Amino acid sequence: MFAIIGGSGLTQLSCLEISRRQIIRTPYGEPSGPLTFGRLKNEDIVFLARHGLGHTIPPHAINYRANLWALHSLNPTHVVSVASVGGIRADLTPGKLIIPDQIIDYTYGRNFTFFDGKEQPVTHSDFTLPYSQKTRTLLLQAAKSADEFIFDGGVYAATQGPRLETAAEINRLERDGADIVGMTGMPEAALARELGLNYATIAVIANSAAGRGNNLAGIPLKEIYAVLDQAMIKVRNILEHIVSCHGN
Ligand code: HPA
Repeated sequence: MFAIIGGSGLTQLSCLEISRRQIIRTPYGEPSGPLTFGRLKNEDIVFLARHGLGHTIPPHAINYRANLWALHSLNPTHVVSVASVGGIRADLTPGKLIIPDQIIDYTYGRNFTFFDGKEQPVTHSDFTLPYSQKTRTLLLQAAKSADEFIFDGGVYAATQGPRLETAAEINRLERDGADIVGMTGMPEAALARELGLNYATIAVIANSAAGRGNNLAGIPLKEIYAVLDQAMIKVRNILEHIVSCHGN
């Protein structure tokens, strides 16, 4: 079974043949919403909307531990996260897609580990390569067979939100080596690693980051949803092809 975590612009998968929805409780509380089970082409899928079905949960208030724990309990072969981001690098313009290969975490105050040491020995997890190379390769192959261009590799900066960044913060992120900026990539990726999940992200550029592209004086928030609607058509196409690549 494949797990898909949808972000802004992907609160449901319209191409999914839905068989049931299930509310799962976890030792960490409730996930963002019910899990939706269904089939996409010939593959069993479980889908979770990260911000809730009504898109009401802001990035810092998402129960990332419950989300990942619930998906892990189903023993998925891969977890694919879809996330909207701002483009920092000049060629990462609105509507483009990228599969990042690195992360820098600037978030704070979130529940970021399952190993919080109350009754367990100290446990570290290796995070040198934060995304599963297996899952990244599957996504890249799927994009190729879907004939959708997607950038291979880039550094995802995870910021706290919910506000967008200042232009100076984006300059700093760029100096740090970041290519894209989003608010939900962490602790999601780290928790997936702690659970041993094959996890990777398709990031959708919703806007040029603050002070970049045409956004020297501000980010036109109203335009973001139109960009995401268009880009999610490409994401759905890729997701359908992942599934058929995997089945072959
Ligand atoms: N910054 C942070 N997160 C985002 C952005 C951005 O510009 N766009 C979409 N998610």
